[in-house]
Amino acid sequence: MDISRRQFIGRSLAVSALPLLPSCTLVRSESAGDQYVYDLTTEPATAELVPGHTTEVLGFNGQIPAPTIRCRQGEKVTIRLTNKLNEPTTIHWHGLRIPVEMDGVPFLSQRPIMPGETFVYEFTPPDAGTFWYHPHMNSVKQLGMGLVGLIIVEEASPVIFDEEHEVVLKHWHLDKQGGWKDLMIPRYSARMGTPGEWATVNGVHEPTYQLKQNATTRLRIANVDNTMTYPIAVEGCEAWVIAIDGNPIKTPYRLTEHKISPGMRVDIGLVAPNAGQQVHVRFMRGKFAFPLCSFNVVASTLPANQTLPALPLNPVPLLDLDNAENLNFVFEWAGAVSPADSDGKVKPKFWLMNKRAWEGMTKDNIPAPLSRLTLGKTYIFYLRNLTQYHHPIHLHGHTFTVLELDGKKLAEPFHTDTVLLGRNGYAKAAFVADNPGRWMYHCHIIEHMKTGLMGYIEVT
Ligand code: C2O
Ligand code: CU
Repeated sequence: MDISRRQFIGRSLAVSALPLLPSCTLVRSESAGDQYVYDLTTEPATAELVPGHTTEVLGFNGQIPAPTIRCRQGEKVTIRLTNKLNEPTTIHWHGLRIPVEMDGVPFLSQRPIMPGETFVYEFTPPDAGTFWYHPHMNSVKQLGMGLVGLIIVEEASPVIFDEEHEVVLKHWHLDKQGGWKDLMIPRYSARMGTPGEWATVNGVHEPTYQLKQNATTRLRIANVDNTMTYPIAVEGCEAWVIAIDGNPIKTPYRLTEHKISPGMRVDIGLVAPNAGQQVHVRFMRGKFAFPLCSFNVVASTLPANQTLPALPLNPVPLLDLDNAENLNFVFEWAGAVSPADSDGKVKPKFWLMNKRAWEGMTKDNIPAPLSRLTLGKTYIFYLRNLTQYHHPIHLHGHTFTVLELDGKKLAEPFHTDTVLLGRNGYAKAAFVADNPGRWMYHCHIIEHMKTGLMGYIEVT
């Protein structure tokens, strides 16, 4: 074990869980000492996703699954990103409320990182929780081929579970021999998106892990898929929803079924049952439950009847609803395949956000913002989905408080960075515009974003 690894373990209190972590934790750079400093690359690599077959992928540090970045709430983290792809990229830290210069959106907040270049991302995360990172360029391909990873921000005052497991969900667009299929088929883009066919958890099809009997356990479930919505259930023991999209909820509730769409996360707490039993994470479809991953419970000396530790709430700014301004956002289907552009490529526009479609940005083609907001003010967004398909709507740099869903006032509003609008769904969500800059605001079904469902707001 090298020094940086030992220091890492020394600083992490979930020590017993570490050897069981299914995916690899990124090792801090040698020279970093006590600091959270990491070296990261984007690069072409190969992976064995379908057993016995090799697939060309794009990987952070060439790895599938991507290394998990661990840092701590209120402490600085530095990530030196070197682009070894043969095309430009940028990295977005999904869900983190950090300065716009670090938000990783090409042209809007930074220059694209060209092949061979290094860009240093440096920020201090204000919130603890399960977040993730991904490029914000050529996203159908770069995310679809593997550039998706977790960034876990540990609580400023440590919360200790006996075990912690990452459950990173992705369906790869692969055939049975590990060959690539289309990442984006227009007739699907105009509907729910093009689904991948090879289901994986942490890059493995239906993996099995271990849990210690009686262990208080935190599952960090993240949907990093381009398209797929996962209705999740846990079988084999009682499970509790303890955080949504990185943000702890005040009163954890029993998990029955929870829908996570692309970009979304859910943290589940459970106490492992007796040795010999199994716990399963399942994908629910009507009456049917498909396996995603399983845990075999093994003997341990942990005491029985443990209670789950409580997660401290994140310091999301307080809403001033009395003086809030209301803004409407309507999501519609346009259904037009526009004529070929000058480069001869057909660029379909299927979706509209307040009557506007924006399918991509270039240096000299940044449209006006969807809205201009005043720094420090509270806004209530009324989100209306006038389409037959659901849309997970993500806002960069801020945390929404969801007040109403489909006309129902929530007894306990929750915090999120991605609001899931069901078909013909409606949401009322508020936030304080406390972070100056130009912030992306888009559907996280990547094909929907690429075919119109994308815009930005400006906070000044
Ligand atoms: Cu994870 Cu702009 O998105
Ligand atoms: Cu969408």
